[in-house]
Amino acid sequence: MKQLNNITILKGDGIGPEIVDQAIKVLNAIAEKYDHDFKYDEQLMGACAIDATGNPLPEETIESCVNADAILLGAIGDPKYDNDPNATVRPEQGLLKIRKTLELFANIRPVRIFDSLKHLSVLKPEVLQDVDMVIYRELTGGIYFGAKNKSENEASDLCHYHRFEIERICKLAFEEAQRRPRKTLCLIDKANVLDSSRLWRDVVQGMKDDYPSVNVNYLFIDNAAMQMILNPSQFDVIVTSNMFGDIISDEASVLGGSIGLLPSSSAGEKARLYEPVHGSYPQAAGKNIANPIATILSVEMMLRDFGMGDEADEIVEAVTYCIDNNLLTSDLLKENALFCSELGDQIARHISSKTKKDYGVLI
Ligand code: IPM
Ligand code: MG
Repeated sequence: MKQLNNITILKGDGIGPEIVDQAIKVLNAIAEKYDHDFKYDEQLMGACAIDATGNPLPEETIESCVNADAILLGAIGDPKYDNDPNATVRPEQGLLKIRKTLELFANIRPVRIFDSLKHLSVLKPEVLQDVDMVIYRELTGGIYFGAKNKSENEASDLCHYHRFEIERICKLAFEEAQRRPRKTLCLIDKANVLDSSRLWRDVVQGMKDDYPSVNVNYLFIDNAAMQMILNPSQFDVIVTSNMFGDIISDEASVLGGSIGLLPSSSAGEKARLYEPVHGSYPQAAGKNIANPIATILSVEMMLRDFGMGDEADEIVEAVTYCIDNNLLTSDLLKENALFCSELGDQIARHISSKTKKDYGVLI
């Protein structure tokens, strides 16, 4: 297994720098305790890159990402671009281009609910019983990347998929379903209307015999959006296209009480990129109030991918400790909330203060 040494850091916009700083504290605590050598290379992407260079994804950033073992991203986006339909340069172009350049075709978004936060969810605690799912969202195709056209009175975005693009993400999703106790894969699509969705069904049906232990089911996206609220515990592994995955994962992210808790990893053939599911939350930028947990749990995913299971477990343990002991930011706590940097300190300190986990016998 490849070693984790060189990490490209893309703090991005809005709350990005604040939350990434906390994740770096945690990485440093792990590095010191387990004697790892993480080297950080900070680069620009998004609105901050446009401001500095005119380009949302400068060449230097691409080069660093291509040579990295892993990439840690905060968030990108700035409202000054959102309400200008004629803007030709946008922060999001940086993110879409890095996903495409690194062929990060699978965006993996696990949804886990912390017991002690269940009462904060908009859903009743009993509906959240046993919720444990992971969303495999296709990330480099579909309507995001199809041909675009806009004139004064007409506009179109093509949703195009090639069989191989569907196969490679479905393979990862089937493998994940096979590893999980419930072994259930749900394809979310709109196959009653869209040809592109019918191709997804075709591919999944063609592959399912290769994974005989996996139960496969299908839901139309409109029904799936409803089921996510009515009965979220039915989901185990979800696989879906780029746009449907974007939407359903934001919906799933509120189940646990705050969107500030959900991490993600994006996988392809090269370095993986780790980022929280939430956005750049510009209203909170610079206020030190954002929740750093989604970014810190993205680091957990990073460490696991490099075989550092004990280190990743330490992060989960420290985050769970803070959550269970009401060491929370203001999205989750009305009174006595911690600042973003304080929560980062607490999580890092918890990791440093506990004795190192026993490695067991190394073979
Ligand atoms: C996400 C975000 C991005 C997306 C935006 C910022 C382009 O919403 O990662 O889910 O739509 O993919
Ligand atoms: Mg999104």
